[in-house]
Amino acid sequence: MHHFHYKDGVLHAEDVSLAHLASDVGTPFYCYSTATLERHYRVLERAFAGQNATICFAVKANSNQAVLATLARLGAGMDVVSEGELRRARAAGTPADKVIFAGVGKTREEMAYALGEGICSFNVESEPELHALSEVAESLGVTARVAIRVNPDVDAKTHAKISTGKSENKFGIPYLRAPSLYDEARKLPYLDVAGIHMHIGSQITDLAPFRDAFRLMRDLTLELRREGHAIHHLDIGGGLGVPYRGSNEVPPHPDEYAALVAASLGDLDAKLYLEPGRMIVGNAGVLVTRVVYVKAGAGKRFTIVDAAMNDLLRPTLYEAFHEVWPVSEARTSDATVLQDIVGPVCETGDYLAVERALPPFEPEELMAVMTAGAYGAVMSSTYNTRRLVPEVLVNGSAYAVVRPRPSYEEMIGLDRLPPWITPEA
Ligand code: LLP
Repeated sequence: MHHFHYKDGVLHAEDVSLAHLASDVGTPFYCYSTATLERHYRVLERAFAGQNATICFAVKANSNQAVLATLARLGAGMDVVSEGELRRARAAGTPADKVIFAGVGKTREEMAYALGEGICSFNVESEPELHALSEVAESLGVTARVAIRVNPDVDAKTHAKISTGKSENKFGIPYLRAPSLYDEARKLPYLDVAGIHMHIGSQITDLAPFRDAFRLMRDLTLELRREGHAIHHLDIGGGLGVPYRGSNEVPPHPDEYAALVAASLGDLDAKLYLEPGRMIVGNAGVLVTRVVYVKAGAGKRFTIVDAAMNDLLRPTLYEAFHEVWPVSEARTSDATVLQDIVGPVCETGDYLAVERALPPFEPEELMAVMTAGAYGAVMSSTYNTRRLVPEVLVNGSAYAVVRPRPSYEEMIGLDRLPPWITPEA
């Protein structure tokens, strides 16, 4: 469910025409819908009503201040993985006590900063990290609240690069080693180890892997409590998938997911934390791009557009499928031709869609790459010295550029000449 629809023959984000935005902002650009963001947050919130759960949006999925502030104003907490994300979450108005700090490589500086902010909890991923956090907390004279991330060795049945809960993945500590680490952690006076964290992967479209992980989480909670550990909170991670292929891919509804959580963990009387990213913001965003050239390859049509892999990395990095919709509705009834939608970057992997049956796009035409709100702009770069793609947020009939396209001067001006090279006159 999202708010990108054809109106008067043109694809709109809520009440704003994407063609109008393209002429105002220039292409390519990301466009987000406030209504979709709010809807997804509320659907999840409603699904978990009565379960003492806090929804911490995974900032890595989309860290634009406007997106974070929209969610923070709905009451969302934030799941962050760096000091930078923590600063973004706080700048967007998220209370520190609703921030969870995850990640396998937190530095001591980052830990100190987060402790100074008074965040809710750290998800600790290894024994050395546990000791480092204990030392930093001691040096500041504060107690750090901790959940240990446990790797349940569950196959999330998703793309290998976004699967995190198998034993060969770098995340968490092995399930069987967890009890001894909790025992060790108990001896560290500046840590309050009160939780268990699991996150098994992303774009999960089947409840079965969640069921397996939650069962293990439940068993571990009971075992740790038997050993005298006060386990107050369970962080069940994120990972719920979104429909990238329309009705051909139907991920579980948040209500089904919430029912599974209630059935698996509901009697444990623990506070729950959720870390959804994609599910909130995935189909709240599109990438709008304009055709530059159309070229007939040997047996293949290439539609060359002005967006590229540096703007949306997912297709080439994960073989990800994103639907492509023409901005002009009239085109949707045209006979389709097989084509690759490619960008101007000098790499064979620079594509947005491969061998796709789409209308025969012509130069200057606009298209929207759908479901690009999560892991889109955040993973963009300036490769090939292309300007960072701008972001626009729509709200009803209003819109605002929430990250402008930098100028070439700004981009090149970030570099410095060393003293031994004098600028040429
Ligand atoms: N919590 C943790 C500890 C995570 O590692 C992640 C995502 C999330 C929550 C949020 O997961 P979500 O609800 O968004 O599935 N760039 C990849 C996805 C990487 C996901 C990394 N971790 C992509 O474009 O598919």
